[in-house]
Amino acid sequence: MNGAGKFQDQQLLVVGATGGLGSAIARSLKSEGAGLILSGRNEEKLSACAQELGAVSLSVDLSSSAGRVQLAEAVGELDGVVFAAGLAPVAPVRYLKDEDLAACLNVNTMAPLLLVRDLLKKKKLKVGSSIVWVSSVASSRGAAGYAAYAASKAALEAAARCLALELAPKGMRVNCIAPGMIETEMADAAAERISSDALEAHLKAYPLGAGRPADVAAAASFLLSSESRWITGTSLPVDGGFSIK
Ligand SMILES: NC(=O)c1ccc[n+]([C@@H]2O[C@H](COP(=O)([O-])OP(=O)(O)OC[C@H]3O[C@@H](n4cnc5c(N)ncnc54)[C@H](OP(=O)(O)O)[C@@H]3O)[C@@H](O)[C@H]2O)c1
Repeated sequence: MNGAGKFQDQQLLVVGATGGLGSAIARSLKSEGAGLILSGRNEEKLSACAQELGAVSLSVDLSSSAGRVQLAEAVGELDGVVFAAGLAPVAPVRYLKDEDLAACLNVNTMAPLLLVRDLLKKKKLKVGSSIVWVSSVASSRGAAGYAAYAASKAALEAAARCLALELAPKGMRVNCIAPGMIETEMADAAAERISSDALEAHLKAYPLGAGRPADVAAAASFLLSSESRWITGTSLPVDGGFSIK
C-alpha cells in the first residue's frame, strides 16, 4: 500500500528523475500514492530524490544498451512508465557535430523506444499499463538551431503512434506530452545561448505566459491514470497556447 491517491498500489517507473521535469513528475506521482522506481544518471541527485520520496532508484546511462537492459531487469511489474530524460543540443546545422546529433537521437528517440522493447521482452508492463514519453513543441514547430532536437522528438511521436497500435490489443497505452519552454536546467541552458531580446520575444509567444514543471507533471499524471483510458497514440501539447498560433 502506498497511501491514498489515484495511484494507490501502483508501481510507476520515472526515467530522467534527476531532471527538472522528471523530478517534478516523480513528486506529483508520489503525492498521489504511487510506489516509485526512479532512474537517472547523476547518482548524487538520484539518491537525494529517492530518499526524499521513499523510492527505489537505479542509476544507468540510457544511451547504452547495457544500461537499458539493467534497468529493465531491475524493475518489477509496472503499471506505468514516464520517460523524461533528454538532451537538447542547439546549433545551426552548419556547425552540428556528428556526435551531438547521434547522442540526441540516441537519448531522445532510441532510448525510450528500446527501453519499452526491453520491458516488453521481460514482461514488466502489466495489462492496462500506460507509457508516457516527454516530447516537445519542437516536434511540430520549426526553430532555427533545433534541427537535431526537433527531429528526435518528431520521430519519437511517430514511434508512439505505431507502438500504440501494437500495444492496444494488450490493453496498454502510449502517449507523448509536448511541453513548451518550462523553467529547468535544460531550458536555462537553451536560454543562455540566445540574446535577451530573442528570449523575450520567445517568452511573449506563450499566450498563457511561462510554464512550470508542475504543469507537465499534471499532464503526466492524467496520461498515466485510468482517467485517460480511451486516449492512446497522441501527443498532448502543454505549452500555454504556443502551438495554436
Ligand atoms: N524544460 C523544457 O523547457 C522542455 C520543453 C520541452 C520538452 N522538454 C523535454 O523534457 C525532458 C526533460 O527535460 P528537463 O527540462 O527536465 O531537462 P533536464 O533538467 O536537463 O534533465 C534531463 C534528464 O535527462 C537525463 N539524461 C540525459 N542523458 C541521459 C543518459 N544518457 N542516460 C540517462 N539519463 C540521461 C538527465 O540525467 P542526469 O542529470 O542524471 O545526467 C536528466 O535526468 C527532455 O526530454 C526534454 O527534451 C523539456
